[in-house]
Amino acid sequence: MSKRSLRDLPAAALDGKRALVRVDFNVPLKDGSVADDTRLRAALPTITYLREKGARVVLLSHLGRPKGGPDPKYSLRQVTRDLERLLGAPVEFIPDPAAGVPSTRRLPRGGVALVENTRFWPGEEDNDPALARVFAALGDFYVNDAFGSAHRAHASTEAVAHLLKPAVAGFLMEKELTYLGDALAHPKRPFVAVLGGAKISGKIDVIEALLPRVDEILIGGAMACTFLVAMGLPVGTSLVEPDRVALAKALLAKSGPKLILPRGAVIAPSLPRAAEHREVPVDQIPDGWAVYDIDAATRHDFRARLLRAKTIVWNGPMGVFETPPFDAGTRAVADALVAARGKGAVTIVGGGDSAAAVAGLEDKLTHVSTGGGASLEFLEGKVLPGVAALEDA
Ligand code: 3PG
Ligand code: MG
Repeated sequence: MSKRSLRDLPAAALDGKRALVRVDFNVPLKDGSVADDTRLRAALPTITYLREKGARVVLLSHLGRPKGGPDPKYSLRQVTRDLERLLGAPVEFIPDPAAGVPSTRRLPRGGVALVENTRFWPGEEDNDPALARVFAALGDFYVNDAFGSAHRAHASTEAVAHLLKPAVAGFLMEKELTYLGDALAHPKRPFVAVLGGAKISGKIDVIEALLPRVDEILIGGAMACTFLVAMGLPVGTSLVEPDRVALAKALLAKSGPKLILPRGAVIAPSLPRAAEHREVPVDQIPDGWAVYDIDAATRHDFRARLLRAKTIVWNGPMGVFETPPFDAGTRAVADALVAARGKGAVTIVGGGDSAAAVAGLEDKLTHVSTGGGASLEFLEGKVLPGVAALEDA
């Protein structure tokens, strides 16, 4: 499980050498520029270290999910300016990896280049060794710092690590594996998980994997409604996955008192009619109304449980947090994590929506993951191919 780190490479292995660094610059864009630079900033310790050691840094990433070839909408060129601002140094853009070798050789010591979106080439998602050879030619050694993409076995995350050695973990990758790994392997107790989001289907494996390890799992978000239906409660027009009700029933049966469901909900006739919202206990959801958040009683209950915890892992919002007033439950969980951290608890937040919900609070939490799907798969106990391909320590 422990992987060789960039830190373990001697100075001579870095100085003047071309470091091919897989980063996860799959960032949200708005009007052609970066809307949230969290993932760029998260890669800075690795990039800066390499530059200080005199390496020539060649960055590889995907961006979005382009279909069938190059698409300007997903060009990584849009990221260059923000990266230059954060680095305080110029970034050379390499539009075609197959023609990029001379550019990488011309880079000065400490220079930085960014290669165009790896998903513009069909072999990327097929983990094609031929494309991996093209990538490998751009560096003298390989660093994977893209934790957020480590659950993908792609040419730039997996195949390339077998071709270009040393193949080591960058500092962000290391940090993610340490925090998420330690939380699971040696949790201080009570260990409480908070899971939310729309769909139970995406969270089943993580519930199953966490149940034997945690003391409690607090459930919020629309996925709570599938559990309510499994308990025989009417949920009006709430989002439910009818084909998962039987499974929710089975999970309830085997989890005993560990699975903590909402006591009540914030409901409204529809999202556009949010102004008509009100709070009801979960057994009093009327016909024609839908659940959009956990209610005040649940917020208090979850907060009390979180303040007793010594380790907390959180993934998924409690309600439709991007549409106030249905953000209250998610904000309450964020506040409770900060308070628990203040009392010495280890507080870990998965990426994606839950990371967005704690934006600005990162310093008051133990760790906020840059990986959405990757952090979930890690919590599920799955092997991440991008990690497995790196050299063992
Ligand atoms: C992410 O944001 O989830 C990662 O960058 C991986 O992207 P993907 O889900 O499109 O593979
Ligand atoms: Mg994803």
